[in-house]
Amino acid sequence: MKRILVLHGPNLNWLGKREPQVYGKETLEDLNSLINNAAADLDLQVKIFQSNSEGSLIDLIQAEAAWAEGILINPGAYTHYSYALRDALAGVGLPVVEVHLSNVHAREEFRHHSVIAPIAKGQICGFGFTSYLLGLQALVVSPTMIK
Ligand code: DQA
Repeated sequence: MKRILVLHGPNLNWLGKREPQVYGKETLEDLNSLINNAAADLDLQVKIFQSNSEGSLIDLIQAEAAWAEGILINPGAYTHYSYALRDALAGVGLPVVEVHLSNVHAREEFRHHSVIAPIAKGQICGFGFTSYLLGLQALVVSPTMIK
């Protein structure tokens, strides 16, 4: 059983209401049940949190660092500028997979750059909820990640 910390960053609590043409009509609750089902299939234990606050995300990363064996994170807009979040993720030394619902590279230019990607094992974007499922699989199957 592997233990994965799943973090949703700012504004993801508004899934379903927020720009549905970009992020879809399904809610964060729908996404979390998909993640929980996938985790059960993959024999993973997951803890899922969402926060709109940079400091709270950092506190969660540090608080769960001893429990978690890997981190799946959608940092939301923090992706593009939060060195504090990047440092927290790098600091705990766990394998990180960065995911996005939308294809950030096909959107506004400010979304093309991620300050998280250089410290992540990889980035998966553009596949909606499936990005999270692919991210979970990557954490499990990649030999460079969790042993
Ligand atoms: C996002 C992409 C970010 O650019 C944006 O700020 C988000 C959501 C995504 O999942 O597509 O909040 O991370």
